[in-house]
Amino acid sequence: MKRSHNCGELKATDVDSEVTVCGWVQNRRDHGGVLFVDLRDRYGLTQVVFDPDEVGEQMDIVHRLRSEWVIQVKGKVSHRPEGTINPKMPTGEIEVRSKTITVLSSAITPPFEIGDYSESNEELRLTYRYLDLRRTRMQETFMVRHKVMQAVRKSLDGQDFMEFDTPILAKSTPEGARDYLVPSRVHSGAFYALPQSPQIFKQILMISGFDRYFQICRCFRDEDLRADRQPEFTQIDIEMSFADAEDVMKATEKMFKESFKIIGVEIESSFARMSYREAMAKYGTDKPDLRFGLELTDVADLVKDSDFKVFTGAIERGGIVRAIKGPKMNSWSRKQMDNLAKLVAIHGAKGLAYIKIGDDGEYGGPIVKFFKKEAIDAIKERLGAENGDCMMFGADDSSVVLPAMALLRNHLGKELKLYDEKEFNFVWVTEFPLFDWSETDKRWTSCHHPFTMPYEEDLPLLDKIIAGEKDVFIRSDAYDLALNGVEVGGGSVRIHNSEVQEKVFRALNISEEDIKERFGFFVEALKYGTPPHAGLAVGLDRMVAMMLGYENIREVIAFPKTQKATCLMSDAPGEVDEKQVRELSLSIRKTKEDSK
Ligand code: AMO
Ligand code: AMP
Repeated sequence: MKRSHNCGELKATDVDSEVTVCGWVQNRRDHGGVLFVDLRDRYGLTQVVFDPDEVGEQMDIVHRLRSEWVIQVKGKVSHRPEGTINPKMPTGEIEVRSKTITVLSSAITPPFEIGDYSESNEELRLTYRYLDLRRTRMQETFMVRHKVMQAVRKSLDGQDFMEFDTPILAKSTPEGARDYLVPSRVHSGAFYALPQSPQIFKQILMISGFDRYFQICRCFRDEDLRADRQPEFTQIDIEMSFADAEDVMKATEKMFKESFKIIGVEIESSFARMSYREAMAKYGTDKPDLRFGLELTDVADLVKDSDFKVFTGAIERGGIVRAIKGPKMNSWSRKQMDNLAKLVAIHGAKGLAYIKIGDDGEYGGPIVKFFKKEAIDAIKERLGAENGDCMMFGADDSSVVLPAMALLRNHLGKELKLYDEKEFNFVWVTEFPLFDWSETDKRWTSCHHPFTMPYEEDLPLLDKIIAGEKDVFIRSDAYDLALNGVEVGGGSVRIHNSEVQEKVFRALNISEEDIKERFGFFVEALKYGTPPHAGLAVGLDRMVAMMLGYENIREVIAFPKTQKATCLMSDAPGEVDEKQVRELSLSIRKTKEDSK
């Protein structure tokens, strides 16, 4: 055995024991010839004392020690002298007085401090991820992630779910992102697609009679990356037979409840619900943060007769006008208001009109002159605004106003500290539209994925879409789970009837050949006796990041990719040999960019 104890477990009751401990040198302090080292491993820190009277000739080695060297120390546990006890450390009452030391491995100087967690440049952290991961904060993060994964497994196993693996070398699954493709050597010109999710496989496992499936699986999506999006990420993927949305929600809520215990948080047993329509109307987003109010309010009827062309013009063009109140924002400077306008510009908003209400009730700001006082009074009343507040407006197409005002709302919630940072607020958003009309592609696309069940009552509307009608709203039996304004999960009741499935493919304008080529096996499988089934997937990275209060999911992924989908540590993606390329029957055309 290389060690008798780890660096986190020795206590006063171990005093006088002979022990062997191993770990990394966190720091080294020279107290007039006697050297102190904080020795670190996953379990904690132990103070080791090297006294020349006890260590003898080996003091030479001790003097050479530097940060991050890996050593083994044999010695005796003793009480720390009076006054040097550290009550904050679990091992703070003791120290190990070294008799012999063995250097297991030396280390070159790390590019950043490992011990005290100082924020260092993220690029450096990702390049030397192995060092970054040594830091206590990261060690604790991955311990939580591990425990959450175990809690998830235990919860789902306890609910009769069976854990499966499904292929990584697979065929394209339509989750809406671009596929990562893997060329086949054996079948020249053919490609596997890395799964965007195990969607089809899990549904097939239901057809195979396994009744309840889960998998903690990797999904791959080649899409634009953001703080909460990685090209490969992990899902907790669930599917249930003879089940409806209600059953999936219950199983998921139980799993969340049990997982949150890991961080000592007791969440409610059942989550709030809201329809997609209500969420969009009140919050401008399908993942509303319900920790605070500030609902978006329709004021089109109150401003349509004003002289403000920005509003009246938008209404005439079929757009909308939404207002939000900013509590106590009358005191905000012109510059602060301009910054809000810049924020909403991210979503294409051309400006952010506002009316301030003085402490005396007087209205102020550049657009007041365009309105009758009664109209502003009515807006104030509808918004529930008070003296000292500010009322802000967005006017344009709903596709601009809603995301812009939703972003503004989240920003204000944070800026004005309208919620408790420690609260976890869950809401199921239901009754999503089945399809979205894509103006760019001039066709319908699935809001969730094409295996999602339309509402029974809305089934006849599929024929209208197939007949070419545009103004059709079909509700789907799909649900998303939002946590503090972040989409942590999504799922749906599935189509279990091959005729409905084929109709949905037709409505999506997927040709007969395409259906056959891409999903033929699946449509065929549906014909062999399919149980009604439903499921969902939770983004594990997002879930753990939220639990720990991180803004970026990179913090909870051991080896994440950058915004440009590269791994700074291993330098992936990399070029490959000519020979490998030829074997795959591929040829590489260098673009002008590459040859620069
Ligand atoms: P969906 O596409 O909604 O559903 O994905 C489920 C959840 O996975 C997380 N997620 C991501 N996390 C990090 N990086 C990404 N690029 C990323 N994309 C998605 C989100 C999301 O809610 N097969 C369906 C599920 C089903 O119907 O059962 C699916 O994949 O938290
Ligand atoms: P303008 O008349 O363009 O100077 O705009 C007057 C005010 O209306 C400014 O505060 C702009 O930020 C704001 N504004 C301009 N366009 C819009 C819009 N589409 N929605 C909301 N406010 C706008």
